[in-house]
Amino acid sequence: MSYSGALAMLRAGVGRSGRQIAELSSLIASAASIGAVCESSQWLARRMKNAIADTSLPVVELGAGYGSVTRVLPASTVSIERDEKRFHALRAAFPDRTILDSCAIPVLTQLSTPTVVVSSIPSVNNPQFDRLRGAIVRAHKAGMIRELVTYTYFPHDPLAGIFPNSEMAGLEFLNIPPAFVWRYSC
Ligand SMILES: C[S@@+](CC[C@H](N)C(=O)[O-])C[C@H]1O[C@@H](n2cnc3c(N)ncnc32)[C@H](O)[C@@H]1O
Repeated sequence: MSYSGALAMLRAGVGRSGRQIAELSSLIASAASIGAVCESSQWLARRMKNAIADTSLPVVELGAGYGSVTRVLPASTVSIERDEKRFHALRAAFPDRTILDSCAIPVLTQLSTPTVVVSSIPSVNNPQFDRLRGAIVRAHKAGMIRELVTYTYFPHDPLAGIFPNSEMAGLEFLNIPPAFVWRYSC
């Protein structure tokens, strides 16, 4: 069932109080907006960080959310979050970090040095994923993405066929839901 279908069912809910329906609706709408049930666990975040092979390169984080992955990345990381509420929460939580309120696609286009990209942007139920994939292809061809690390909730390779090396770098069970970590390199 789609999120909008679930929302409609909830709104029509019989035997529930208005407050319960509003809370459930808000929970589902929030999950739909980030493409996840909740923020990544500390264990998934660490697994993402540990998948980075070349720690000498600058790191750009896409889809930082409320900062669960940001927290474990180097302090020099540039984190991108386009959602206004999450961007302001990030700025408050990490006042010394570089946090940009931008869409990830133009940021990839503007990369000017070989970079490690750590992405939490969903590949499933994301109508913009094809555009993001296209931007990753172009940045990789321009030599600007040396490594990319991401995760999925399904065992499908979201960026298959772009990088010379691609591997499923691990499965993190201590996350809701369990997540597959993917690593790409040149
Ligand atoms: C699944 S959440 C991940 C949040 C956090 N990094 C984590 O792992 O728990 C995805 C985040 O990516 C952001 N996002 C989605 N598409 C984006 C885009 N094109 N540019 C920037 N941020 C984007 C969403 O607003 C959301 O905060």
